Amino acid sequence: MADFPLLENAWLAIDSGKIADFGPMETFPGIVDWTGLDVVDCEGRYVLPSWCDSHTHLVFAAPRSHEFMSRLEGKTYQQIADEGGGILNSARALQLMPEDQLFEEALVRLQHAMQAGTGAIEIKSGYGLDDEAELKMLRIIQRLKEAVPIPVRRTFLACHAVPEGNWTATTWTRHVAEHLLPRVQKEKLADYVDAFCEKGYFGLEEVSTLLEAASKEGLAAKVHVNQFNAFGGVKLCTNLDALTVDHLEVLEPEDLEALKSSSNTRTMACALPGCSYFLGIPYTPVRELIKADVAVALATDFNPGSAPSSNMERIVQLAILKMKMLPLEAIAAATLNGAAAMEVSDQAGVIAPGRAANVLVTKPMEGLEGFGYDFGESSVEKVFIDGVEV
Ligand code: NIG
Ligand code: FE
Repeated sequence: MADFPLLENAWLAIDSGKIADFGPMETFPGIVDWTGLDVVDCEGRYVLPSWCDSHTHLVFAAPRSHEFMSRLEGKTYQQIADEGGGILNSARALQLMPEDQLFEEALVRLQHAMQAGTGAIEIKSGYGLDDEAELKMLRIIQRLKEAVPIPVRRTFLACHAVPEGNWTATTWTRHVAEHLLPRVQKEKLADYVDAFCEKGYFGLEEVSTLLEAASKEGLAAKVHVNQFNAFGGVKLCTNLDALTVDHLEVLEPEDLEALKSSSNTRTMACALPGCSYFLGIPYTPVRELIKADVAVALATDFNPGSAPSSNMERIVQLAILKMKMLPLEAIAAATLNGAAAMEVSDQAGVIAPGRAANVLVTKPMEGLEGFGYDFGESSVEKVFIDGVEV
């Protein structure tokens, strides 16, 4: 993953919002007509593709900083969830908030992420936990997609927590597969489905019911799995051809085995170091994954409970400092592989002629290790989306 091309002393031309061309300085054709031309001097800096954040829960009604306070006072994330907080807390708030308000607030968050360099993003539902609220979330994600110039991928996080009331994981999953999923599909509101495969949430039986129903509807899966416990979810997901397995803070040898690219699977791993950092749980053993030749993406997991930051640069920094990724590996995981983890490789994650000019310019740095070395600072100086500085 650290083996990708880097040009030193280069030029890059942007025309009408697209990358026109680039190359080493010796190939620079020169400028004939200076009218209407903006020159950005990038001396000593790096120009990179903008970040591709393939896992977010950007639509939510309210922060959960009081839960954070409870954690500081000694409770765990799971204890708070068991007492009716956590995802259920976010669902109660989201059900009450009108669609327009949710949309406006999510749009502000999305623009904030774009200003920090995110040039493609995946957004999940999953805080609705009833039919109307899930559809409301997915319609908001659709509106966000239409409101911004960057690629937005929409995930129906159908099984995030067992809703309050008389539901069990089994009855809710059956309901989703038989009633809600067809409605989501009828309105064409999703690109993927997702589930939280975890003790106390959804087990192998339910995840397989959901993924099979989704596959019949033509939807692939991106799955929350192995965040706290490993019990065969990864293998189930690779067997059912999931696009990505996300989290993997716990990784058993059989999970790694299931993921090895030699075993004929397209399933990628997505590590979420912001969640590990914020919850104080283990980091995904990405070195083991990379050694096993598994493609790794990095994403924020931006959400009010376990990772309240949308900043991809911080994720790259954590990947370098806490997961021992080499700077080039972390950058590949946050751009090229992030794009693949949401199937927008034809639009984002690389610098190539004809592509949208979504690029970052760093501050002057001795090397890309500056992303980790200058850990108290922001290394991204300028962000361009469709060739326009934001
Ligand atoms: O990816 N693990 C499940 N879902 C989210 C957190 C949800 C929440 O706490 O609101 C995650 O960490
Ligand atoms: Fe998540």
